[in-house]
Amino acid sequence: MKKIVLLLFCMLTALCVQAETVSSPNGNVIVNFQLNEKGIATYAVSYKGKEVIKPSTMGLSLDKVNFTNGLKLIKSNTSTFDETWEPVWGEVKHIRNHYNELVVTLEHIADGYQLDVRFRVYNDGIGFRYEPRSGNANFPLTYHTVMKEHTEFQLTDNHTAFWIPGAYDSNEFAYQTTKLTDIHALKCDKSAIGTNHIVGDKTIQTPVMLKSDDGLYINIFEAALIDYPAMLLDVETHNGYSLTSHLVPGTTNAVAYMQEPSSTPWRTIIVSDKATDILASKMILNLNEPCAIENTDFIKPQKYIGIWWEMHVPNHSSWDYASISGIRLKEMNWEKVKPHGRHGATTENTKRYIDFAAKHGFDAVLIEGWNVGWEEWSGLWKEDVFDFVTPYPDFDLDVVSQYAQEKGVKLIMHHETSGSATNYERRMSDAIALMKKYGYDAVKTGYVGRIIPRGEHHDGQWMVQHYQRVIEKMAQNNIMLNAHEPVRPTGLHRTYPNLLACEAARGNEFNAWSVGNQPEHETILPFTRLMGGPMDYTPGIFQQKMDHYQAGNPCQVHTTLTKQLALYVTMYSPLQMAADLPENYERFIDAFQFIKDVAVDWDDTRILEAEPGDYITIARKEKNSDTWFVGAITDENRRTATIDLSFLDNGMYKATIYKDGRDAHWKENPQSYQIEQKMVKRTNTLKIKLAAGGGCAIKLEKL
Ligand code: NOJ
Ligand code: CA
Repeated sequence: MKKIVLLLFCMLTALCVQAETVSSPNGNVIVNFQLNEKGIATYAVSYKGKEVIKPSTMGLSLDKVNFTNGLKLIKSNTSTFDETWEPVWGEVKHIRNHYNELVVTLEHIADGYQLDVRFRVYNDGIGFRYEPRSGNANFPLTYHTVMKEHTEFQLTDNHTAFWIPGAYDSNEFAYQTTKLTDIHALKCDKSAIGTNHIVGDKTIQTPVMLKSDDGLYINIFEAALIDYPAMLLDVETHNGYSLTSHLVPGTTNAVAYMQEPSSTPWRTIIVSDKATDILASKMILNLNEPCAIENTDFIKPQKYIGIWWEMHVPNHSSWDYASISGIRLKEMNWEKVKPHGRHGATTENTKRYIDFAAKHGFDAVLIEGWNVGWEEWSGLWKEDVFDFVTPYPDFDLDVVSQYAQEKGVKLIMHHETSGSATNYERRMSDAIALMKKYGYDAVKTGYVGRIIPRGEHHDGQWMVQHYQRVIEKMAQNNIMLNAHEPVRPTGLHRTYPNLLACEAARGNEFNAWSVGNQPEHETILPFTRLMGGPMDYTPGIFQQKMDHYQAGNPCQVHTTLTKQLALYVTMYSPLQMAADLPENYERFIDAFQFIKDVAVDWDDTRILEAEPGDYITIARKEKNSDTWFVGAITDENRRTATIDLSFLDNGMYKATIYKDGRDAHWKENPQSYQIEQKMVKRTNTLKIKLAAGGGCAIKLEKL
């Protein structure tokens, strides 16, 4: 009797459970969507028959409705999409966007609100997003207040994770490599600039890179973050291993406000049994909308130098002009202020950099500290620090812009907002007018410090909208953008390619004034932060040790000199800085040749070898050219890079190889290198020794 009841019960519930399946074009990735008898929605993901994500709940809580249970399936739709598109700039010339889509329309039985869940399944992973709708004539409201998102990623095991702590205002942390059970975010180094509050011991940032013991590489992130807060993840390992969405809050008890047609960003899972596939994935870009800028002619991948590193190294120059404080800076008569003598952005110094750029073929010069306000810019949570139009008296805009024009060099504007987004928005039109007047077509923005409106976070919805307003306004004015301290990118550069790069991670600058970035840092960044878009990492530091500038200073760049060269290839960006001082490049002028030669825009990219936290070897073919460049880097361990040249065309190539010297070591001897030339062809394989913390850079010219 008992058995019969049980059987009946099972049949009844089975009847109520509804399931939909969608697989990738090649069948390797399968998503199972289910709605159980309680109206709870779950999804699960497998790759080549292996479970990747166990059944995991999904849903949104709006102020008026909980899309977490009591749902019924109204309809479902599947479709296929296949197109190939050409990015304005990128790692490859063409990108195929090929997926199968499943849209399930769910209705909250009690009140008729509807939620579409849209899945896109690619050969390299999946994306899904929520699209809430009022749905029902009784509920015509098209505004939605999101109280919480309930997206789970139930993992199959205690994977190795490459992670940084979850914070609402910064991504500038050193990566940690631990098992999920060993994540302790509160123990992390907090040398980030100012706004480094860590949310909790078990909250981490996305993207997070995972590796399973049975060889699966899994990357969890988001795509197309627009008008919504960034997603962190809460880690739970008491009952299985789960990650749950944690949205960056705003100043109210809601996390986001949406207006129809409303959709969340895509929640993404990239998966493969090869680490190289993760780096080659274009899924995040594909989940973004096509280019929204009609005429993209003003957008130019470029290499630049700048009055910048000299402010970061010890005992050198500064952004500010005078030793004064406590006064209304913009109202002062600056001509009468006595300078302290260390100001970096002087007319003379700028000319020196312009000369260097012109001599060595750089496109542009960034000048930081040109405008008044730096005397009291940081830490004050002050609304009105910079006006973005008033230069210091020793910086003559007419003279420097005229000089740059004569030398064929562009100037890059710098707008440090000091976190005061409101002030920046008020002044942006004037700031752009000044740029137009002096022929600037690119700007580096910065958001150091706590955000104004006070209480908002760098990565909350208000600021995500702000960054978006800036991107769009700059695009309307034909200006390229490089944002520092913004939310981490999520592939938006497909839609707005004027967003050349951003920081949103721990850049090379940390090596100048903190414990720095350990040698493995650059082997993890491409698997994490760079999944969403290029980083202005500022490579090319030839003088690694800071005691060169100040006796006894312990700070240093944690790489060899040739690893700095390799970063131009392994850290993809259409905007690359030669970050060191001109005088340091003069000292190693033969190695500097690689930075001068290396391309910033590519027709093709091959990820030759990669393992997160250990090593990366990448080959890229310069746009509209037969020349290839290769970069290979390793962590703190010595290693031999194996470079199979079969990506080359037939015929001979001249290889110029910049490699670590025999005695090179990132700490003991970072400046030891050798340059070698030889003829190679596609049937050759190069085996190159990388020192501890070392690397190798190669230029391959077709003969
Ligand atoms: C932090 C940025 O990352 C750095 O590049 C810049 O020089 C300073 N802020 C000053 O704006
Ligand atoms: Ca390692």
